[in-house]
Amino acid sequence: LNTTLSRDEKLLSICQLLSDSIDYYNWVGFYFANQKSKTLHLGPYVGAETDHTVIPFGKGICGQVAVSNENFVVPDVSAQDNYIACSFTVKSEIVVPLFVNGENIGQIDIDSHVIDPFTEADEKFLEFVNQEIAKLFTA
Ligand code: SME
Repeated sequence: LNTTLSRDEKLLSICQLLSDSIDYYNWVGFYFANQKSKTLHLGPYVGAETDHTVIPFGKGICGQVAVSNENFVVPDVSAQDNYIACSFTVKSEIVVPLFVNGENIGQIDIDSHVIDPFTEADEKFLEFVNQEIAKLFTA
């Protein structure tokens, strides 16, 4: 393990690994919560550039997860009314909150170019990934 990597570099490597390994993970990134301003802020990501670097709590799929503390799987983004479109190529999305000591500090957000690719296995896998990532925030 290369301990000279910063936390953001490690998170970026995880984004890269996930997007390289799973063909329907087409945009992989992290948002982090600012509880004071009630906004999410884009962290490391891999994929198309996005204008949505700051998202208010409650807005879009990401903003809803900031409030619900629950996974959000969207099989077809065109069927969502509270959705922030990043690119017309995106057809589906999964957002899994990142808990550190029981607190929802942000989330992993994955966009896919295909309809309905995400299963319960993705949810379980990404929950595991986030549990491992949480250790980077407590060490
Ligand atoms: N689609 C998200 C916005 C973030 S982009 O997917 C990178 C949402 O509705 O919250």
